[in-house]
Amino acid sequence: MTSGSLNTTGSLGVILPGWTKLFSGKIRDIYRPTSASPHAGSDVYLIVASDRIAAFDKVIPTKIPGKGKILTQLSLWWFDRTKEIISNHVIAADNSAGIEGRGMLVRGLQMAPYEIKVHGYLTDRVLREYIDHGTVGRSPAPMGKYPGDAFDTPILSASFKGPLGQKDTAITWPELRERVGARRANKIEDVAIRLYERGREISAQHGLILADAKFEFGSDADAASSRLIFADEAFTPDSAHYWVKEEFERTRERGEIPRSYDKEIIGKWLAGPKSGWNPASGTQPPPIPQDVVDETLARYVRVYEMLTGQKWCRPA
Ligand SMILES: Nc1ncnc2c1ncn2[C@@H]1O[C@H](COP(=O)(O)OP(=O)(O)OP(=O)(O)O)[C@@H](O)[C@H]1O
Ligand SMILES: [Mg+2]
Repeated sequence: MTSGSLNTTGSLGVILPGWTKLFSGKIRDIYRPTSASPHAGSDVYLIVASDRIAAFDKVIPTKIPGKGKILTQLSLWWFDRTKEIISNHVIAADNSAGIEGRGMLVRGLQMAPYEIKVHGYLTDRVLREYIDHGTVGRSPAPMGKYPGDAFDTPILSASFKGPLGQKDTAITWPELRERVGARRANKIEDVAIRLYERGREISAQHGLILADAKFEFGSDADAASSRLIFADEAFTPDSAHYWVKEEFERTRERGEIPRSYDKEIIGKWLAGPKSGWNPASGTQPPPIPQDVVDETLARYVRVYEMLTGQKWCRPA
C-alpha cells in the first residue's frame, strides 16, 4: 500500500474511508481521495469544517462547539443562491459518519493566493485605518462617513494569503491588477461586487445587514481553463460581517456602533485587559473563557437561523 492510499484521521479524530488528509487550513481540513476511492484520479476534494476559530490570523486553543456545522451549512445555502453569478466549487454535501453537517465534496481547484473583500459599510474594524489614512483595506474611501454608514459604492480590497501560520498582507487594488493582469482584475471586481450585492439583498430579506464579505476564488487545475470559480466558504460569519437590522437601527439612534454577528467578541476579549495577551506579540493566543465561547456561538446561530429559517440544533 502506498502512502497515497492510506486513510488518515483529521483533526476531528475520525477516519474517513477513501480519503486522506492533504492539509489543514486554520479552520478546514482538506482531504484528497485515496487510490482505492471511487474518486481516485479526479480533481475532487472533501472539505471538512472544524470548530476551530481564528483571530488575528491565529488559531485559538478553544473550540466553538458546532461552529463548523454552521459554516458548512451556511456556505452550502449561499453557494446555491449565488450560482447564477459565478459557478462555485460545490459538488455535494457530504454527511459521512463522524463529519455529519460539516463535509462538502468540492472540485479541487488551483486556488488564487488572494482574498477579496467588499465593504458595503464603514465598520468599527476598519475605522482606525479610515480615520488615519482615509482608506479601507488600503483602498481610497469617501470622506465624512460615520461607523455604520453605507458607502455609495461598495469598496473593494484585497490581501495576499500568507502560508499557514503567517499573516495575510493587505495589497492595493493597483497591486492586485499588476499581479493578476487587468483583464483578470476587472473580472474579479465585477464578480465580487455582484456577489456582495446579491448577498446584501438576500440578507436584507432576512432582517440582516451585510456590512462586508470576503471571497476566495480558484480555477480548474486543468491549465487550459482559467475560468474563475467561487471557492472556500460563502458569507459565513467567519468571512462576512452581519448586523441585525432592527438592533442596528436602535443602536444607531443612541449614537453607538452596533454589535456584529461574527467573531468580534473574541477579538475584543483577546485585545482587552483580561486576556493578558498582546495581539502584536506574535505569540500564540490564550484560551477563551466559556461565556465568550457561548456568546460567539449564539451570534453564529442567530445568523444561521435568520437566514435559513431553520432552528439550530446543538450537536449532542
Ligand atoms: N475547492 C478548493 N480547492 C482547493 N483548495 C481549496 C478549495 N476551497 C478552499 N480551499 C483552500 O482550503 C483551505 C481552507 O482552509 P481554511 O478556510 O481553514 O483557510 P485559511 O485560509 O487557513 O483560513 P481563513 O479562511 O480563516 O483565512 C484554504 O487554504 C483554501 O484556499
Ligand atoms: Mg478560508
